[in-house]
Amino acid sequence: MPEFPEIPHHIAIIMDGNGRWAGERGLPRREGHRAGAESVREVTDACIHLGVKYLTLYAFSSENWNRPAAEVKALMALLDRFLTDKAKDLRKQNIRLKAIGQIDRLPGKTRKLLNSLIQETAGHSNLTLVLALSYGAREEITCAARSLAADAATGKLDPAAIDDKLFASRLQTAGIPDPDLLIRTSGEMRVSNFLLWQISYAEMVIVKKFWPDFRQHDLNQAVTEYQRRHRRFGAL
Ligand code: FPP
Repeated sequence: MPEFPEIPHHIAIIMDGNGRWAGERGLPRREGHRAGAESVREVTDACIHLGVKYLTLYAFSSENWNRPAAEVKALMALLDRFLTDKAKDLRKQNIRLKAIGQIDRLPGKTRKLLNSLIQETAGHSNLTLVLALSYGAREEITCAARSLAADAATGKLDPAAIDDKLFASRLQTAGIPDPDLLIRTSGEMRVSNFLLWQISYAEMVIVKKFWPDFRQHDLNQAVTEYQRRHRRFGAL
């Protein structure tokens, strides 16, 4: 163990409970998502403050397309607003933006905004903010398997050469270290098809609060809990 407890290098968050937060207040679900976007801003700043290098947020799952059209539209509008407003912070705070998921399924305007910010911030090095959008881990893993199988079928790749490193290099998170800490809000104990390969050794911290109530001190508490646990990677 290091003399001083480490700050997790990579934090991944399943932001859950926006709908229930709104429901408790008699507000439409979109108001929960709007308040949730505020938590995203605060947590991004808090990560920079702590010296976390990667933050991955589950902002829209592949299953979320099955929600009512009006809710999907409101979420996309929020994302557009977030990307537009956040652009100057990404420059000022030296944040690199990345996205994982089926980005092609996003509306054209959102995709353009996203791609241009990803391109513009590619050289930034303070924090990498990864947005999981239209993301599903099984899809990601299936896609990686398909690309390896295609290379094997054409003789470009010897199947015996496939190991976990090579497999990981075909995932959308290639080049991004695995999360050290996975946080889920609203008390649910599920991983919901999020980063199934990458969270193999992550510490999980479940927070009872709904995502819109998640603040800087909640992030700090989760990090303290992470530091308290002895990380052994399965060894003694
Ligand atoms: C889960 O709450 C949250 C989502 C489906 C989307 C997360 C989106 C945001 C936090 C806002 C926009 C994101 C960015 C990056 C600006 P839920 O609707 O499943 O809540 P419930 O389980 O209480 O119904």
